[in-house]
Amino acid sequence: MRVLAISSQKGGSGKTTLAGHIAVQAQKMGAGPVALVDTDPQGSLADWWNERQDETPVFVSTYVSRLAADIERMRDAGIKLLVVDTPPAITDTIADVVHVSDLIIIPTRPSPHDLRAAGATVELVENLGKPLIFVINAATPRARMTSDAACALSQHGTVAPVIIHHRADFAASMIDGRTVMEVSKAARAASEITKLWEYIDARLISGRRKTIMPSSTASVIEKPSFNVGVH
Ligand SMILES: Nc1ncnc2c1ncn2[C@@H]1O[C@H](COP(=O)(O)OP(=O)(O)OP(=O)(O)O)[C@@H](O)[C@H]1O
Ligand SMILES: [Mg+2]
Repeated sequence: MRVLAISSQKGGSGKTTLAGHIAVQAQKMGAGPVALVDTDPQGSLADWWNERQDETPVFVSTYVSRLAADIERMRDAGIKLLVVDTPPAITDTIADVVHVSDLIIIPTRPSPHDLRAAGATVELVENLGKPLIFVINAATPRARMTSDAACALSQHGTVAPVIIHHRADFAASMIDGRTVMEVSKAARAASEITKLWEYIDARLISGRRKTIMPSSTASVIEKPSFNVGVH
């Protein structure tokens, strides 16, 4: 089982939107069973899931203090991917979630405020030695700020080569517990999520390969390209 945390101390960066969308897309692409955990007291992801008709991905109610033990239970129950939404803060809660995660997604809007706020999350993740991926979210099509943001973020870590644009479909689809893929497969928003999941899936697989490599041979394996090109 792989654990994906969606984290950023900046409020409104898109954590809950991406957590729901990534989990549904992963389940749809056969990476499941997928489980969701909401560690944010605001409970937005839980509220969204409660509106949802489809029973997958499954939702697991837990507390951060029990998360590590519950992860073992989920593993035993056959869950293959866990997506954890987190609150907009830098707290012990976030550190505890990052600690049990295999990969951290940091959604970042291409704005100066978001870019300034990203540093604290990166520091926390790096201090715990976990791999991270920035996902630029809610970008305005063709805006210069998007490439500037990608450039700035790439100095601090991997930037997903898939940009999620600002599209009303994201908010509208979540009103009744769905995602853009379930409202209109043909929508451009759905295609962005499809490509984002393909990218994240590949990163999770390369991470897994790295961990099963015997230490004597690990040194000869070329370092995975963490600083991918930004398109
Ligand atoms: N790509 C997007 N296009 C349009 N609207 C978006 C996009 N991403 C997020 N939003 C909207 O922005 C708002 C904040 O998104 P979301 O709740 O996912 O952020 P968050 O990081 O979880 O917030 P918080 O820090 O409060 O938990 C929501 O109204 C959501 O619908
Ligand atoms: Mg949220």
